[in-house]
Amino acid sequence: MPDNKIEIRPLEYGSDDYSQTLYLRHEVLRRPWGRSIAEDDLDHEAEDLLMGAFDGDKLVGLGTLVWLEGDTAQARYMAISEEYRYLGIGSEILSALESAARDAGRSKLILNAREKAIPFYEKHGYHLTGELKVPPFIPIPHAMMEKAL
Ligand SMILES: CC(C)(COP(=O)(O)OP(=O)(O)OC[C@H]1O[C@@H](n2cnc3c(N)ncnc32)[C@H](O)[C@@H]1OP(=O)(O)O)[C@@H](O)C(=O)NCCC(=O)NCCS
Repeated sequence: MPDNKIEIRPLEYGSDDYSQTLYLRHEVLRRPWGRSIAEDDLDHEAEDLLMGAFDGDKLVGLGTLVWLEGDTAQARYMAISEEYRYLGIGSEILSALESAARDAGRSKLILNAREKAIPFYEKHGYHLTGELKVPPFIPIPHAMMEKAL
């Protein structure tokens, strides 16, 4: 449980904070399925928006935003450290990504949701646009969702 107020702020690609995102993503999104974050091609993240949740200097959650063509942005890598879940941190990160997309003139946010996270996104106004499918990078079903901003 957090002792301090959680700060939501953008972080810089390649920084020490960014290294913390690799560890958190590995632990939350890859290691439980025997995969490694090192298998992901993350070069594009120099151009992406990387939003972190910090308890002091410690990264406890993140989400990223990829700028797609046209009016669309894609949220990726939503991950909250296990002991910090269900405290509203994921919601705050998602809202910050939505605001940034809106400020950049985007009118649609899409994402590829893990089956278990679909209710979380539905609470935030996202709807399913595709069938559940198992993607190549992780052996659990995902479905595309979107929200008009
Ligand atoms: C999914 C995740 C990002 C949500 O973040 P969080 O900080 O725990 O979520 P919040 O506390 O902001 O939850 C907001 C609401 O969604 C609900 N919610 C959160 N996770 C949920 C889930 N897995 N299933 C159903 N509802 C969920 C909360 O109960 C809360 O509802 P309320 O407003 O009625 O109280 C986080 O649980 C996580 O990192 N999970 C593991 C990794 C993962 O699945 N990432 C998503 C990849 S697509």
